[in-house]
Amino acid sequence: MHDVSLTAATPPTPDDAPRAYPLGDAESELARLIRQGEFFAELTRQFLLAAGLRRGMRVLDIGCGAGDVSLLAAAIVGPEGSVVGVDRSDAAVTLAARRAHAAGYRHVRFVAAELEDFTLDPPADALVGRLVLMYLDNPALTLRDLLLSVKPGGIVAFQEFDLAAAKSEPYCRLYEAALDRVGETFLRCGFDTRLGLRFPRLFREAGLPPPTLSLAARIEHGAEAEVCHALAEITRTLLPHMERLGVAAPHGVEVDTLAERLRVEAAAVDATLIAPALIGACARHV
Ligand SMILES: C[S@@+](CC[C@H](N)C(=O)[O-])C[C@H]1O[C@@H](n2cnc3c(N)ncnc32)[C@H](O)[C@@H]1O
Repeated sequence: MHDVSLTAATPPTPDDAPRAYPLGDAESELARLIRQGEFFAELTRQFLLAAGLRRGMRVLDIGCGAGDVSLLAAAIVGPEGSVVGVDRSDAAVTLAARRAHAAGYRHVRFVAAELEDFTLDPPADALVGRLVLMYLDNPALTLRDLLLSVKPGGIVAFQEFDLAAAKSEPYCRLYEAALDRVGETFLRCGFDTRLGLRFPRLFREAGLPPPTLSLAARIEHGAEAEVCHALAEITRTLLPHMERLGVAAPHGVEVDTLAERLRVEAAAVDATLIAPALIGACARHV
């Protein structure tokens, strides 16, 4: 930990922490998801192509949020293919459908459902998702059940965070402290920000073959680093949890100026910043 104000005497362990989805689906959070989607878009597009997504395929995107991965998949499979995005949030799937319509995609549809209760029939050629398994109560079990929604031989491809892969050189105190605050808040809420590193076990427990793993991260420099804004935005969403859980003192974060302060710091020391990495895992459903 670096310079993070911790006021809770005994942090709850992941086991006894509340497991409600911590980010919510307020309009501001969905707008943040879209900007985060833009930040990661090229890394995810390359990942989906490497996983084998091609024109004409039928794709299921779970935990689709505002639809960013679904829209990337829709561009790859084209109108000969199709995409179904699923999310429990009505507001998210409504927004996702509006975005798909605005993009002129008629081969994408969105469904509001709990992933634990969802099956796609007939099954898809590919099951994909980004930053969703970390929020499930039992990701291996849910993934195993979701395999009913993929054809035998179909693609299973997910990206999850390794938050700890993020770093600065030279060391940026504010940047590292902001990362630590986010990581500590997810941990105290009971969520694993390094789930990406546990994909082999997760895939095995879901009954899948060992996945091909990949790592992708944005690396940026100085005042132009977009990660500064992304980090400030996720801090803003998590702020009530940070204060409730004692990760930050009330009014201690000054979130309105955080992005600018991070940029000024990076520029002052000519820093290179690595953003949280996306670990990819891809296998064929046997
Ligand atoms: C961090 S967002 C990621 C959205 C999208 N995959 C992306 O990368 O932009 C996680 C999404 O998973 C959804 N989610 C989490 N748990 C879920 C569940 N059990 N069933 C359905 N959706 C769930 C949330 O509502 C949220 O929209």
